[in-house]
Amino acid sequence: MSNFKIFSSGVVAIALSLATGCTPTTPYDQITSEVPSAVPVQGTESPSPTASPTGSPTPSPTGSPTASPTASPTASPTGSPTPSGQNNLSSSDRQFMIQAAQDGLAEVQLGQLASQRAASNAVKKFGELMVQHHTPVNNQLKQLAAQKGVTLPTSIGTTNQQIRERLLKLSGATFDREYMNQMVKEHEKDVFAFQTEAQDGQDPDVKAFAAQVLPTLQEHLQQARSIVNPGSSTSSPTPTSTP
Ligand SMILES: [Fe+2]
Repeated sequence: MSNFKIFSSGVVAIALSLATGCTPTTPYDQITSEVPSAVPVQGTESPSPTASPTGSPTPSPTGSPTASPTASPTASPTGSPTPSGQNNLSSSDRQFMIQAAQDGLAEVQLGQLASQRAASNAVKKFGELMVQHHTPVNNQLKQLAAQKGVTLPTSIGTTNQQIRERLLKLSGATFDREYMNQMVKEHEKDVFAFQTEAQDGQDPDVKAFAAQVLPTLQEHLQQARSIVNPGSSTSSPTPTSTP
C-alpha cells in the first residue's frame, strides 16, 4: 500500500515537473519585458519629427497687407496726365477748395429744403435757384480738386449741419426769415472767400475758378438781401429790421 503511494506521488512529481518544465522562465520574462519597452521609444520618436510644422509657417497673412498700401497712392490717375501743380498747392488754396465744397453742398441741401417748405414764393424760387446754380459749380470744383489731388469733403460740415437742423424745426414765415437771413450771411462769407482767392490765390486754376464763380455769388447776395429787406434794392447796410 505504502509502495503504491510512493510510486504514485513519484509519478505526480514527474508529471508536475514535465508540466512546469516550460515555466522556469523567470529570467526571460525580465529580459523580454525590457526589450519591448525600448522598441516603442524608437518608434514614437520617428513619427513625431514629421516636418509638418516646418511647412506650416508660410506667412500667408503678412503677404496680403503689403499689397494694399502700395495700390492706394496710385489712386490719383484721374485722367490728368500733367499733374503739374498737384503737390505744390498752397495750404490756403487747398483750404479754400475744402471750404467752398462744404458750403456749396450746403447751398444745394438748404436750397432743396427751402424749395419744399418755404411759405413765400420768392423764398421758394430763391431755394430752387441755389440748387440750379450751385450744383454745376460743385461739379466743377470736384473736377478741379481731382486735377490738383485734393480730397474734398462729401458732407456739409458741422456748422452747416447745425443750421440745417435748426431750419428743419421751422416752418411758414419763421422758416422763410431764418433761411433768408442765413443765405445773406452765407453769401457774405462766400463772396469774401472767393474774392480773396481770386486776388491772392497762388494756383492759377484755383484762382480762375474763384474769379469765375464770384459774380454768381455776388448776385445771390444781392437777391438774398433784397428778399430780406425789399426796401433796399442796392447793396446797402445789413438788414437787421424785423417787422
Ligand atoms: Fe448761392
